[in-house]
Amino acid sequence: MDLFEYQARDVFEKHGVPVLGGIVATTPAEARAAAEQLGGGTVVVKAQVKTGGRGKAGGVKLAHSPEEAEARAAEILGMDIKGHTVHRVMIAEGAKIAEEFYFSVLLDRAERRYLAMASVEGGVEIEQLAIERPEALARVAVDPMVGIDEAKAKEIVQAAGFAADVADAVVDVVQKLWTVYANEDATLVEVNPLVRTEDGAIIALDGKVTIDENAAFRHAEHAELEDKDAADPLEAKAKGLGLNYVKLDGEVGIIGNGAGLVMSTLDVVAYAGEQYGVGPANFLDIGGGANAEVMANGLDVILGDEQVKSVFVNVFGGITACDEVASGIVQALEILGDSATKPLVVRLDGNNVVEGRRILDEANHPLVTMVDTMDDAAAKAAELAK
Ligand SMILES: Nc1ncnc2c1ncn2[C@@H]1O[C@H](COP(=O)(O)OP(=O)(O)O)[C@@H](O)[C@H]1O
Ligand SMILES: [Mg+2]
Repeated sequence: MDLFEYQARDVFEKHGVPVLGGIVATTPAEARAAAEQLGGGTVVVKAQVKTGGRGKAGGVKLAHSPEEAEARAAEILGMDIKGHTVHRVMIAEGAKIAEEFYFSVLLDRAERRYLAMASVEGGVEIEQLAIERPEALARVAVDPMVGIDEAKAKEIVQAAGFAADVADAVVDVVQKLWTVYANEDATLVEVNPLVRTEDGAIIALDGKVTIDENAAFRHAEHAELEDKDAADPLEAKAKGLGLNYVKLDGEVGIIGNGAGLVMSTLDVVAYAGEQYGVGPANFLDIGGGANAEVMANGLDVILGDEQVKSVFVNVFGGITACDEVASGIVQALEILGDSATKPLVVRLDGNNVVEGRRILDEANHPLVTMVDTMDDAAAKAAELAK
């Protein structure tokens, strides 16, 4: 999960990283009030979108008074930046910048460790710098068992060539940014620019933080950081029901048990759908222990997608026996009643398959077609979705 800049600012503050005051506003009037709250002096109005290069795109503007902040916010709110609509701005205290630096720490999957990067030439697009002048971007490996202690922070600062008069302060900030990275379970913490102000302070002026959602279980507070506006409504609904659901673009809804089976189902449906010009509409894994309620929830989510024309239920009975799944489908269709209108192709195999098929046969629901093999079922579902 990527955080907005204002959220990164708050997280930085929590861990003692020096930041400037910043207040979020969703209307020009709020922006004006925020500027007043920050003392009525010079502020910067900053578009809050989860993409870089906001400055270049006109999404970061200086305002010398609350009136100007209101006017700049009116210009920036609603703006489109690289396909992201600006719904919020942050009113930030204006810094008198003397120098702009760069610092980041990220997960280096290929090397199975962390990587810190720093440069005394920050502010610019770092990808550009890395290509044009790679020698200006220091790259220092970080041992996950040690992290960025004082010695490592000094190594990074030295490698990047920070001047002696700022080195100590940067070493301190780098260690604090490491605590953000480690304590928040981040996979990326990037500060661009990290600035030296005219009065000599080192401040994180822009922050990008990516949180590892796999660590959500130890961070109840991270749930608040989620951007609920941006989530697909069906994905949000599924998440609320505890289902693993991903919306895709096609017409065949897919329900399976186990991520591996669901992924292969996507493949066979994509393949079978080629001749009809249809494809998978989603990924929905009901996991192990799928009872009638879970099945009903899954079907409810998928049938809520208007793009879905047919549904393929592909279950391999293991811990969950096929008869339970079959009863689940029958009960789910009862629960859904008239709201279930799309044809269902069901393929059951594995544990208790004979009993499972018998239950579906007996129910003889007009929307349900049973097919024995995965390939044939995919072909049938694709044909029905055509
Ligand atoms: N609070 C601030 N005070 C003064 N200048 C700022 C402030 N925030 C950003 N800037 C200037 O605007 C530039 C772009 O802002 P930044 O937050 O880095 O957005 P982005 O990286 O998306 O372009 C910075 O490099 C800095 O020069
Ligand atoms: Mg930036």
